[in-house]
Amino acid sequence: TSTVGKPTWVAAIDQGTSSSRFIVFDPATGDIVAITQTEFPQIYPNAGWCEHNPEEGILRSVEYCIRETCRKIELETGFKAKDVIQAVGITNQRETAVVWDAITGKSLHNAIVWLDARTTETVASLIERTPTRSRDHFRSKCGLPFSTYFSAVKLRWILDHSSEVAQAQREQRLKFGTVDSWLIYQLTGGASKGVHVTDVTNASRTMLMSLESLEWDSELCEFFAIDKSCLPAIRSSAEVYGTFASGPLEGVPIAGCLGDQQAALVGQRCFQPGEVKNTYGTGCFMLHNTGPSPVVSRNGLLTTVAYKLGPDEKAAYALEGSVSIAGAAIKWLRDNMGIIKTANEINELAAAVPDTGDVYFVPAFNGLFAPYWREDARGTIVGLTQYSTRHHLARATLESVCFQTRALIEAMNSDSGHPLVSLKVDGGMTNSDLAMQLQSDILGIRAERPLMRETTALGAAFAAGLAVGVFQSAEDFVKRTTVKADVFEPRMGASERELKFDKWKKAIERSLGWADT
Ligand code: G3P
Repeated sequence: TSTVGKPTWVAAIDQGTSSSRFIVFDPATGDIVAITQTEFPQIYPNAGWCEHNPEEGILRSVEYCIRETCRKIELETGFKAKDVIQAVGITNQRETAVVWDAITGKSLHNAIVWLDARTTETVASLIERTPTRSRDHFRSKCGLPFSTYFSAVKLRWILDHSSEVAQAQREQRLKFGTVDSWLIYQLTGGASKGVHVTDVTNASRTMLMSLESLEWDSELCEFFAIDKSCLPAIRSSAEVYGTFASGPLEGVPIAGCLGDQQAALVGQRCFQPGEVKNTYGTGCFMLHNTGPSPVVSRNGLLTTVAYKLGPDEKAAYALEGSVSIAGAAIKWLRDNMGIIKTANEINELAAAVPDTGDVYFVPAFNGLFAPYWREDARGTIVGLTQYSTRHHLARATLESVCFQTRALIEAMNSDSGHPLVSLKVDGGMTNSDLAMQLQSDILGIRAERPLMRETTALGAAFAAGLAVGVFQSAEDFVKRTTVKADVFEPRMGASERELKFDKWKKAIERSLGWADT
């Protein structure tokens, strides 16, 4: 093929909780060139449990998206995809735990998904073993409280419940990783030559990494009784980890890696301390860039690594508010209740009524994360009357995400002392104008929605491009990819806003403790 007019593109694998995507971007503008997305099966073996099949679910869906996108590119440009894609970044659902065998390269257990709540008892017994008997015992070291959410707790559960995995650990052939590690290992050649690495942002979600040293911490590994030999090497978020071993991208470097929420922070160009974004996916995650040193929250937020854009670069940190059920509540209306047929239908239903008729829905399906950290909470709907319809429930579902976001903002404002004046938003639910208007109304501040909403993938593609020299710096990225945004201003009066939020807090009270009754 001639190289005349040959484009220079960057790409990202975005492996999320409900779907996988492969997206190719033009680095000159940040625009999408080609995209494929596919949902994959969720496995619910028990109430509150959630698993993914590492091969058939996670890996195959990613391979499918890559194949399809490359096919489209080849068809449209006449160039081989591997000749025009300079580098690929990976961004992923974060705390989901995968274990596999170093000899066969095959998984030894289904992946336990981040929102899976099976480890409630593991959490209680771990807290019991700390000298302070406190959920926050290791918070200053790893930034995280004990919770079902984090991957070391899940790995501990697997080691305690699968003799096959425990034996693999004893025989030193166990490999553990979050989804980024699993994908990089498989895509760079698996058992024969796969690279076993993770990046600092994903490692900061395990409870095993020290936020200061950015290395696996011996005290934490000993506490969890996890042998360091099964852990991936921790690398920066922008460097070449390896190359695709086969398939349409054979030889292309995998050169960026960020947990999906951190990637969205980067994709939203929040490089300055004080900048904040909120992403509405399966869950909803607000990250606040706090600059070069970790800040410990006094209000139930997590401290996490935001990014480290190169092996010799300094890390930036963030405060994070994590909500486990956002888009998942809409999916629940669709898949479990059959109230809507497609996720988008929720907007029509919700828009047909002026308010929720005083109905409040707390979708605490697996407990509540930030700022409450209560495993014992369960979903609840309050305020039902004979007048209530599915329209009201649909609207209450959208509002539930907005109220949860408001609780995060209140915690952020108290931690930082600087009340936020506008919020950058992205993710699936931001496609709904109604949801974003409700969000602005419930927060009382502006919501800014970029026209290009695949910011998560863009962040990872940027990191990969930076590692191979397609981008020179974060400033270069910001300059080239100016964002156009829709803006939503609050229309609701302050007294109505406060009244509704007070009622929401009462609904939260009712959801707490249900799992223990
Ligand atoms: O921490 C969990 C998060 O990474 C999942 O993101 O977009 O799949 O809801 P998402």
